[in-house]
Amino acid sequence: MKAFRAAILRFAGDGAAVYEQDGLLVVGPGTNGQQVVHAVGTHAAVAAAHPGVPVEHLPGRIIAPGFIDLHIHFPQTDVIGSPAEGLLPWLEDYTFPHESRFADEAHAAERATFFVDELLRHGVTTALAFGTSHPESVDALLAQAQRRGMRMIAGKVLQDRHCPDGVRDETGQSLADTEALIARWHGRGRLGYAITPRFAPSCSEAQLRGAGELAAKYPDVWIQSHVAENLDEVEWVRQLFPAARSYLDVYRQFGLMRGRAVYAHCIHLDDEDRALMHDTGAAAAVCPTSNLFLGSGFFDYAAAKRAGFRYGLASDVGGGTSFSPFHTMLAAYYVGREGRTKAGLSLSPQELWWQHTAGAAAALGLDGVVGNLQPGCEADFVVLDPAATPLLARKTAHAASLDELLFSLIVLGDDRVVERAVIAESSRSP
Ligand code: GUN
Ligand code: ZN
Repeated sequence: MKAFRAAILRFAGDGAAVYEQDGLLVVGPGTNGQQVVHAVGTHAAVAAAHPGVPVEHLPGRIIAPGFIDLHIHFPQTDVIGSPAEGLLPWLEDYTFPHESRFADEAHAAERATFFVDELLRHGVTTALAFGTSHPESVDALLAQAQRRGMRMIAGKVLQDRHCPDGVRDETGQSLADTEALIARWHGRGRLGYAITPRFAPSCSEAQLRGAGELAAKYPDVWIQSHVAENLDEVEWVRQLFPAARSYLDVYRQFGLMRGRAVYAHCIHLDDEDRALMHDTGAAAAVCPTSNLFLGSGFFDYAAAKRAGFRYGLASDVGGGTSFSPFHTMLAAYYVGREGRTKAGLSLSPQELWWQHTAGAAAALGLDGVVGNLQPGCEADFVVLDPAATPLLARKTAHAASLDELLFSLIVLGDDRVVERAVIAESSRSP
């Protein structure tokens, strides 16, 4: 066992933040071979109950749950900052050409190494990630995550139409590849697989049907896709699937709406769609930097809260502009405030942080496993320096409340704040 003394941020069951200014986090081996949280609370109380446990003192630092990125494309690291009129030309002009290069194993391995290092540098310890249509891209990414002991979920993109040679797959082979990847990776250590139809326009009905059949056969495998991101895309889906009530309804028709299904964007939904999200247990990955960069629109937080479905935050690199959870939380705040296309509201810093940690874990069906530092959780955490820049040092020194402290970090923070990301794998740190 080992203990860490610092300020500690975690979340209660109702999502409220719990903050100990002088806290102690005790971690040790759990039953599943990971390091888990044994005890957490004020230093005075927890230290007295754990005499003899070595303590690493981190004065002036904040320990917080590792961030969870609910939607990111590992092959799009180099696509960040590619401007386009909107989603569909951006896919054609930048994304598909970049993704075609992942047929090359050496290319995929180099990009996977950089990607995983970049996640950890930014304090992201779990991600739900797209590969490309090449199965080798998933092998490359999950092998790198495994080397670092990270909890990572990924999938091979399914896209058998409306995309160019080099990234288009073949229906039968794509489903066979998916099933082989599930057998190879799902549940291996901390790794998971996600069935990954890119989006309805790039998948034939046969491919969507096959994906739904795999989703039924493997109920604890994740599903990830995109929905209702961009108005041209929504209109395209209306033409391609005239019998569907809505874009989201296409996924329902093919058996792709259930718990552990995570749909990126969910902007242009109506209340019937939102009820479907709620009733099926699917979750939304909110991608604010991507939606602002590509001009896609604004996620309607008020409507999502009314419908009661699960959601959490995501970078959506490379439509998204940053790996940094701080940048994503700030962009989510801007998106929440926008009040012309929907009701505007002011999300609290505690809620923004929850959306990128414990809330994102709940969206994945991993509440109590990652995204929090309550006893029993896997001990993935970040050590933050709230004085990492001169301006942050001034601001956080004078914070009069937890909200003021967290908001200063959200507005001014980036990778400079993240001193360390600690991964719970038993054979490594802590
Ligand atoms: N819709 C289909 N593919 C993509 C993608 O790669 N990025 C985003 N943002 N939307 C998509
Ligand atoms: Zn995406």
